[in-house]
Amino acid sequence: MRRLAFVYCLIIFGAIVLVFNSCENNNTYTHGKILYENFCANCHMEDGTGLAEVIPTLVQSDYVILNQDKLPCIIRNGLSGEITVNGKLYNTEMSGSPKLTEFEITNVINYINTAWGNKHTIQKHLDVRKALEECDAEK
Ligand code: HEC
Repeated sequence: MRRLAFVYCLIIFGAIVLVFNSCENNNTYTHGKILYENFCANCHMEDGTGLAEVIPTLVQSDYVILNQDKLPCIIRNGLSGEITVNGKLYNTEMSGSPKLTEFEITNVINYINTAWGNKHTIQKHLDVRKALEECDAEK
């Protein structure tokens, strides 16, 4: 009987942890979405598709997939010079968002990585911090 009560307790505890975790993920996703809409959508559009020849897409972008480690610095410091995104050449200038914190940058990246059908690996906050330390040092 005691053992059964213990098993029940474990199940209930597990369920609580599950619910808590999914709330947590939803929160960071919603936070990332709000930041995206405020800091990125006026150029990359709300649906991430960019603008014709001027602003590259973030939806299924091979550049995003290949440059995951560079995303934190791109968001903080911007990007200029020639780049190729899904076979299309761009040479415009993206301004950075230097006011965003490490946490905010992590949430924006993970929003991009999972929105609009993108299924890229979630980035950890500590990896974003490391990447930012490296690009801050290069400046
Ligand atoms: C002022 C307009 C503008 C804003 C705001 C902006 N971008 Fe960009 N973004 C660009 C342009 C233009 C490029 C291409 C730069 C080049 O040609 O070198 C670009 C390139 C990129 C790229 C690499 C190319 C690709 O599409 O895969 C990523 C990733 C990116 N931006 C993410 C973001 C994120 C995240 C934000 C918000 C924090 C943001 N951008 C805000 C204009 C903008």
